[in-house]
Amino acid sequence: MAILKIARMGHPVLQAPAEAVADAGAPEIARLIADMIETLADAAGAGLAAPQVHVPKRVVIFHMPKGRAGEGGEGGDGGNGGEGGDGGNGGEGGDGGAGGPRPPTVLINPVVEPVDDEVAVDWEGCLSLPDMIGAVPRYVRIRYRALNPDGEAIERTAEGFHARVVQHECDHLDGILYPMRMPDLTLFGFTEEMRRHLPPGGAETL
Ligand code: NI
Repeated sequence: MAILKIARMGHPVLQAPAEAVADAGAPEIARLIADMIETLADAAGAGLAAPQVHVPKRVVIFHMPKGRAGEGGEGGDGGNGGEGGDGGNGGEGGDGGAGGPRPPTVLINPVVEPVDDEVAVDWEGCLSLPDMIGAVPRYVRIRYRALNPDGEAIERTAEGFHARVVQHECDHLDGILYPMRMPDLTLFGFTEEMRRHLPPGGAETL
């Protein structure tokens, strides 16, 4: 495993659509996922997409941060036993022990669609825009389909933060960074300044 360098806004790899993964079980994809998990843990972010580590493939990982795990539905996930179901990564780096951080959820070739039209605005950060935050509108409720690292199809509904992080990460696969979703760029700036001048927000680094 290795900690990978994270691309910052302006790098072309963040602007191009990523390629579909042909074989979710291929050794190089398993290696990519392991490296992304290690990179995300090192960067203390909530989510990471493969283009952010200079790999233009349709792979994302994300955590439900502590205290937010109960937020958002995990419904609709027939055979996978809910979000913990991506057990293929359990024990990574010794994190899998009882009470330790749960391994991130891994989505390969994800497809996202809104369940309805409701949109909410909330603060987001991104490892590719370090030390900045912005207020971004996202669908409140989504449905997504993907493959897990075992190559099994998963389908879930999500809402709230879960829905937000999936939309943010999947945008990376289409060359979209969160400022491109913002209708009001007065709500985009350096975290330190924004925190000083705006009410506290719960920005997570996605
Ligand atoms: Ni991001």
